[in-house]
Amino acid sequence: MKLMLSNNMWLLFIVLFLYSSSCTKINENRQWTQVAKGIWKYTDLNKEKTNLLDAANAIPLWPKLDAYAEVPFPLDQNLIKITRQNGKIYLRFPLEKDEQIYGLGLQFKQVNQRGHIFNLHVDHYGGADNGRTHAPVPFYVSSKGYGVLINSARYITVYVGTAVRLDSRDKPTVYNRNTDKDWQAQPMSDAVEVLIPAEEAEIIVFAAKSPLDVVRKYNLYNGGGCLPPKWGLGFTYRTHTLHTDTDVLEEVNEFEEHEFPLDFIGLEPGWMNMSYPCSYEWDSTRYPKPAEFVNALRKRNVRTNLWVNPYIAPKAKLYNQMLPYAGSHVVWNGIVPDYSLQEARKVFSDFFEKEQLNIGVSGLKIDEADGYDHWLWPDVATFPSGVDAEQMRQTYGLLLQDMISNEYHKRNIRTYGLVRASNAGASRFPFVIYNDYYNHEDFITALINSGFSGILWTPEVRSSASGEEWLRRMQTVCFSPMAMINAWSSGTKPWSYPEVFEAVKKVALLRMQLLPYIYTTFADYHYNGTPPIRPMPLVDGFVSKEKVTAGTLDDTENPYNLATRKDIKDQYMFGESILVAPVFTGQKLRTVILPKGKWYDFYNGDYVGENEIITVESRLDEIPLLVKDGGIIPMIPARLHVPVNGEKLPLEVRHYGALEGKYLLYDDDGETFDYENGYYSWTELSATNVPTGLAGKDKRMSGKIFNYTDIVWKFMTR
Ligand code: GAL
Repeated sequence: MKLMLSNNMWLLFIVLFLYSSSCTKINENRQWTQVAKGIWKYTDLNKEKTNLLDAANAIPLWPKLDAYAEVPFPLDQNLIKITRQNGKIYLRFPLEKDEQIYGLGLQFKQVNQRGHIFNLHVDHYGGADNGRTHAPVPFYVSSKGYGVLINSARYITVYVGTAVRLDSRDKPTVYNRNTDKDWQAQPMSDAVEVLIPAEEAEIIVFAAKSPLDVVRKYNLYNGGGCLPPKWGLGFTYRTHTLHTDTDVLEEVNEFEEHEFPLDFIGLEPGWMNMSYPCSYEWDSTRYPKPAEFVNALRKRNVRTNLWVNPYIAPKAKLYNQMLPYAGSHVVWNGIVPDYSLQEARKVFSDFFEKEQLNIGVSGLKIDEADGYDHWLWPDVATFPSGVDAEQMRQTYGLLLQDMISNEYHKRNIRTYGLVRASNAGASRFPFVIYNDYYNHEDFITALINSGFSGILWTPEVRSSASGEEWLRRMQTVCFSPMAMINAWSSGTKPWSYPEVFEAVKKVALLRMQLLPYIYTTFADYHYNGTPPIRPMPLVDGFVSKEKVTAGTLDDTENPYNLATRKDIKDQYMFGESILVAPVFTGQKLRTVILPKGKWYDFYNGDYVGENEIITVESRLDEIPLLVKDGGIIPMIPARLHVPVNGEKLPLEVRHYGALEGKYLLYDDDGETFDYENGYYSWTELSATNVPTGLAGKDKRMSGKIFNYTDIVWKFMTR
C-alpha cells in the first residue's frame, strides 16, 4: 500500500523538522571533563573569545587545586539540561528542597539567593537586587557543597529556583487560593535556570567536601586571592575634592595631633586639572609640585591614592595618542579607551608610569567603570577591537584592574586601591569595591556576600546623621577589607563627633593592633583562596544536620535549624576566629547565632555560650566580637602606621577558651612581590595542654623574622 500524505501532513513534517534543528540538545553525551580534582567543564560548549576569566587574566593555581581530594561529580548529570535555541543557551541545574544558593556577586539585600531572579549586568547598584550591581559575578555556591560558574561576559539571566516547569520532577502542591492558607504566589521550584544570550559560554562546576572549599577552589581557579601591602590594611582617609597640597598636609597634621591612625590618603577628582572627563594631569594651582608632595606624605608614612575615571578629556595630553583606540561613544565628552587592546594599555601605562608611578603614587581609585546607563556608553556602541559593547561593560572593571595591577607588579611594588566595577576572575586583584548607596545594613549584607564571589567590598564611612551612627559605621568598616573614611564631599573627620571620638579611635587602633591577624587572613586568601570575610553558611559547624547535644535548646530553637531557615545577613567571620556582630544605630540589644562549640568575648575572654542564640548588649564603645574555643589571635601594640619592613615589634598572642589551638602566622616584607620567590615566613603558634593548664609555643616553619619578635602569650579565658 502506498503511503499517501496530505499537503497538511507534509507541512507538519517540515515544521517539526525545522523546530528540532533550531533547538539543539547539546548535552546528549553529557560531557563533563574533569580539569582538576573536583572541577569539571562542560565540553560541548566553548568560551567566547571575550569572556570574564580571560579579561581578568585569571590563571589557575594548579598545584593548590591538585592538593584537594578527588570528589565525585556533585549532581545527577541526567538532571542537568543544556540546550541551544535561536542563538541562546538555556541551562538548567537541579535544586533539592532543602538546598540554599549563595553568591552571584555583590548583592545587598539578602544572602540566600534562592527564590530570586537576577539579570547580571555591571551597573551602579540602584537599591534593588535585580542583578544590576558593581560585580554581578555569575558564580553560585550551593549549601550542598558545589558551585557553578558561567564564564560569559553577557547579560545573563539567572532564575534561582523561581520558575516551576511543567515537567518538574518534584511538583509543588496545587492549592486553592480561595480556601487554602498554604497557597503561595511562588510555589517551590526544583531548578536553577539560566539564559545566556550567546551561542557559546564556558560552564564550570566545582565540588568539594564543604561550601567553604568550593569557594576556595573558585578563588584558586582565578589565581588565588590578593595579598595587599601591609599599609593597605591600615587606615585610610579620602580628602575633600578641592583640597590643595597644603590642605592635605594639614589634614595629615590633624591626624597626628589626634593620634589617629593613617596609612594612606586619597585625593578625589580635584587633584586633576580637569575631571569628568579626566586629564590625569595634576592641577598646577592646587598641586604645583606633585613629586615633592607625594614624597612629603611618604616621609610621614602616608601613601597617596588618586581618584580617576576611565574617560579621557579632549584637552588631555593622552587624548590624541588614545584616540585611535577609542570606542564609538564618549562619556562626559571623554573618549572610552578600548583596554582589551594591548596598544591602548601601553598608551595608558606609559603615561601612568611617567606621571604617577615614578613620583611614588601608591594606588588608584577607579571610579565610574560600572554605570549608570544614562551616562555610560550604550549597548549600540562599538569598539576598535570588535568586542561588543555589552561584553565591554561586563569586563571593563576587570581590564582596568588587570592593567593597573600589572604596572605595580612590573615594578615589584604592591598596590591596594578601589574600583567600582568588577566581575568573575577578580580574586587576585588588589582592589576593593565601594559605591554611593550608603545604607548601613545593606552595606553589611554586601560585605557578607562578597565572601562568596572572590571580591572585596568596603562599607565606607562618609557622613552620618548622629555621633552614634558615625561610630557604628566606623566599627564595621574597621572589620572589612578597607578601613576607610571617604570625606570627599562632607569633609567629616574621625573626630567630628566629639561624644564618640574615643570609641571611634579605640576601634581604629584595634584594627591596627590586629594587623598580624588581618595580614595572615589575607595570606590565607592569597595562598589557599580562603575568603577573608566568611559568610556564616561557609562556617564549619554553622549549618549542621546533627542534633544539638549540649545546651537546653528544643528543636524549634535549634540554632542550626534556624541557620538554614533564616537569612543570616548581619553577622560574619572576619578571618578564621573572629565572629563580628555589627550593631546598627538605635540597636540596644542584638542576637547572635553561635556556630557549634563554645564561644568567648573577644575583649575579656568571658564565656558567652554554646549551641545557642545569644543576646548581646550593644555597648556603644565596642562592636560585639566573639572568638571560638581554642581561637588564637596575634596582635601588635596599637600604632598610627603599619610597621615598615624590618621594624621589629613585640607580638601578643591571645588564646581564647579551653581547647588546644593552632594558628599559622604569616609574614613577609609587606611591600614587594618577593614572596613570590619564597621570601616569606610561616610560624606555628600553638596552645597545648600541660599539667598546669595551657601553654603557648611558637615554631618558625619557614623563612625569617620580618616584623614580630618577643612573643608573649595571653590566655584570655581563666
Ligand atoms: C563618585 C564616587 C565617590 C567619589 C565621587 C567624586 O562617583 O562614587 O566615591 O569619588 O565620585 O566625584
